[in-house]
Amino acid sequence: MTAVDVSAVAKSYGKIEVLSDITTHFAEGSFTSLLGPSGSGKTTLLRIIAGFVIPDRGQVMLGSRDVTQVPVWARNIGMVFQSYALFPHMSIADNVAFGLARRGIKGAEARREIDRALELVRLPGFADRKPKQLSGGQQQRVALARAIVTRPSVLLLDEPLSALDRRLRQEMQVELVRIQRESGLTTIFVTHDQEEALTLSDKVAILDRGRIVQIGAPTEVYERPRTRFAAEFLGDTNFLDGTVTPDGVRIANGMTIASAAALPPVGDAVTLAVRPEKIEIETADAGRADDRANRIPATITTSVYAGTALTYEAEAAGQRFKVFAQNRDARPLAPGAAVTLSWSPAHSVLLQGGP
Ligand SMILES: Nc1ncnc2c1ncn2[C@@H]1O[C@H](COP(=O)(O)OP(=O)(O)O)[C@@H](O)[C@H]1O
Ligand SMILES: [Mg+2]
Repeated sequence: MTAVDVSAVAKSYGKIEVLSDITTHFAEGSFTSLLGPSGSGKTTLLRIIAGFVIPDRGQVMLGSRDVTQVPVWARNIGMVFQSYALFPHMSIADNVAFGLARRGIKGAEARREIDRALELVRLPGFADRKPKQLSGGQQQRVALARAIVTRPSVLLLDEPLSALDRRLRQEMQVELVRIQRESGLTTIFVTHDQEEALTLSDKVAILDRGRIVQIGAPTEVYERPRTRFAAEFLGDTNFLDGTVTPDGVRIANGMTIASAAALPPVGDAVTLAVRPEKIEIETADAGRADDRANRIPATITTSVYAGTALTYEAEAAGQRFKVFAQNRDARPLAPGAAVTLSWSPAHSVLLQGGP
């Protein structure tokens, strides 16, 4: 069942179209990330779903209810912003109770709901404290409790972890997933951090200049990016521009790259994307025969050591490759080393739109 349904939504500010024809569905109980660079329209889309912004065109449905013109307070939505501003003079319980009071839920019933929400965010026993007695991470959990105490049908999170330091952020990521699983809340999470999106979500929607350019499971969008933008935004990629031949794709340096993708007709210009961790480096003396179709002689040009992994750059007749390698060997390869780069044709991903 679809919990949130956005169809043909568009929004302009002045002459600038911030969202163009957004159509997408958020399944009941799913965790979806809206991922895109700053200014791509993530917050605007979230605010349209919440009701803070009315779209110029299109429709927003919550379940079977058309809420396009329904005000925020009548939508039954929970929202957490980047700056989670608790009321400093009020107790944690009163902060959490904020949305309940407006719905006329008071007394013992309110107390029960507050306790339930604080338990869910693992802050039982904090009801009578004041925000300043809590750490940043704990305050963010209170903000989360405040958003879910009214049992909303959808939870909207706008970069809620971006103000936290790295360690706390990772801790809260784990917590968020747990809370989402336990509550079963349909969650839409805005982030510009690709790793965060891949780690947390059932689905990732990639936004580029007001459009959703791809939506899918984390493995799908990472392993099979559709465009150069999607490939680049989700991590490092080697782009190989070339022309389709009967055997694969002939790139500028004259080499032919095999791809398992269904290639367009011979002669068409295309771009293949190959992730740096998919490429294996074989040194001349450790070379072995296997069924990898792409075997390219190359020379290491740079080598960056980062403890668990190494980043290499290699050159093959003018074509540069970036390669990530596990730190398995006794010594990292030095610039000048002669190697063979190999990868499976399955990892030569065909991008749409050509070079
Ligand atoms: N209220 C507004 N008035 C004018 N321009 C706005 C307003 N809100 C957002 N914008 C513009 O819309 C674009 C998208 O903004 P936003 O949705 O906040 O992007 P993101 O959250 O992806 O960074 C930006 O160029 C921003 O400046
Ligand atoms: Mg934003």
